[in-house]
Amino acid sequence: MLTEEIINKYNKPAPRYTSYPPANFFTEQFTPENYRTAIIDSNNQHPQHISVYIHIPFCHSLCYYCGCNSMLLRNKYEVADYISALKKELKLVLPMLNKDRKISQIHYGGGSPTSQPIEVIRALNDQILSEFQCIDNPEIAIECHPGYLDEEYWIGLTKAGFNRISLGIQDFDQDVLHASHRKPSRMPEHEIMHILRANNVSVNMDFMFGLPLQTEQSFSHTIQKAIQLRPDRLVTFSYAHVPWVNELQKNLEPIGLPQAKDKDLMFEKAKKMLVEAGYETVGMDHFVLPGDELYEAQQNKALHRNFQGYCTRRTTGQVYAFGITGISQLASAYSQNVRDIPTYITAVENNKLPIMRGYKLNHQEQVTREVITRLMCNYTINWADIAKDLNMTVGSVKSSLIYNEQQFKEFREDGIIEFNEDSLTVLPEARPFVRMVAASMDKLMKKTDKHFSRSL
Ligand SMILES: C[S@@+](CC[C@H](N)C(=O)[O-])C[C@H]1O[C@@H](n2cnc3c(N)ncnc32)[C@H](O)[C@@H]1O
Ligand code: SF4
Repeated sequence: MLTEEIINKYNKPAPRYTSYPPANFFTEQFTPENYRTAIIDSNNQHPQHISVYIHIPFCHSLCYYCGCNSMLLRNKYEVADYISALKKELKLVLPMLNKDRKISQIHYGGGSPTSQPIEVIRALNDQILSEFQCIDNPEIAIECHPGYLDEEYWIGLTKAGFNRISLGIQDFDQDVLHASHRKPSRMPEHEIMHILRANNVSVNMDFMFGLPLQTEQSFSHTIQKAIQLRPDRLVTFSYAHVPWVNELQKNLEPIGLPQAKDKDLMFEKAKKMLVEAGYETVGMDHFVLPGDELYEAQQNKALHRNFQGYCTRRTTGQVYAFGITGISQLASAYSQNVRDIPTYITAVENNKLPIMRGYKLNHQEQVTREVITRLMCNYTINWADIAKDLNMTVGSVKSSLIYNEQQFKEFREDGIIEFNEDSLTVLPEARPFVRMVAASMDKLMKKTDKHFSRSL
């Protein structure tokens, strides 16, 4: 167990590295033409699979802690126009993709995609699937807020072809939810599980720790209930307090937020309970039932991830995103759509790609992305393996980064890593601080005034 002193030393702001470079490094100099070029590159470099992300930003009500790109559902005309613009954007982009490629994943996120009638989602799915063939058993997934969904909706999702459904539980404690301005599940969760299981749908559950009123004990009750429900995958997100991004989070401050040490205790207890209940740990905060493909990938040191979470097939690292704020993740670039709905609609109605900003990665940054992604997913890097996969020498991989032995020695003395000239591994109890290790190798972090959340 790390001491409180070490926890405080390393609980400093750093990127979460859901992308490399992090999204706040994207620039407005990135143009629609750059995106077109990146799509041609992705057709050539990774011609196999297509992963589609659809962003539905609307929510019935806004949770105070929310760090997602969400907005209140206001009037049905705005929503209808948004959905028809989404369809138009699909028509603009999908024809640019090589027709030999297959769909491997469709993911609906938000916001709350389930704020929309099921027919709307089904029509979007049909449009995507009519353009391309799929790999065997593609993943068709959706994020759901159970506070607003009735039995008919859950059954509707299974009939619409969804085979992975994420339930945003966050906490079972009604007081915690109430303090966070969030509605509890409309249907008892075990009944939802029954419907989904009967239809062979894999179930994910999202939980958060670090919310007001949560304690080690209250969160362990929540995890106990989760274990009884036995979802296929479970994520325990550390609440990221970023009030400069979402002002609503300030509402939580007067109630009081758990300190880093309390959060660490909540997480460690939850992890222990889940492991004792037979869950395998994937990455830092994902827990899966034995046999899950994410666990197999992790064992083979082949776990990968994109903005939608961990994934296994390397090609699901190639994501084409649609809707406001959607981020496409291609081999040589990231491209992010505009934030506001009227600008988005006007652009696509005029047959223009609705791009706000992006980032073209040079070779050195592509190497850094490979190193940091492997470290963030697998907690270990072997320099010779990376060099071989990138067709480079170990020396040139290391010189693409900040390879600072002095810094590594300090990490080692503090019980954060083990390293030698061949490899570097983050120790199990120090995994919450993996991003500090990644940031120490990141040349972009050398001088930056950007804001990041803390590890805990
Ligand atoms: C797009 S969001 C929510 C999906 C859906 N609208 C819901 O509310 O269930 C996906 C997940 O991100 C997590 N999340 C949201 N805000 C967060 C924050 N500030 N810090 C950490 N995790 C957060 C929550 O666990 C949430 O379920
Ligand atoms: S957590 Fe989900 S429902 Fe709540 S505001 Fe964020 S996206 Fe909307």
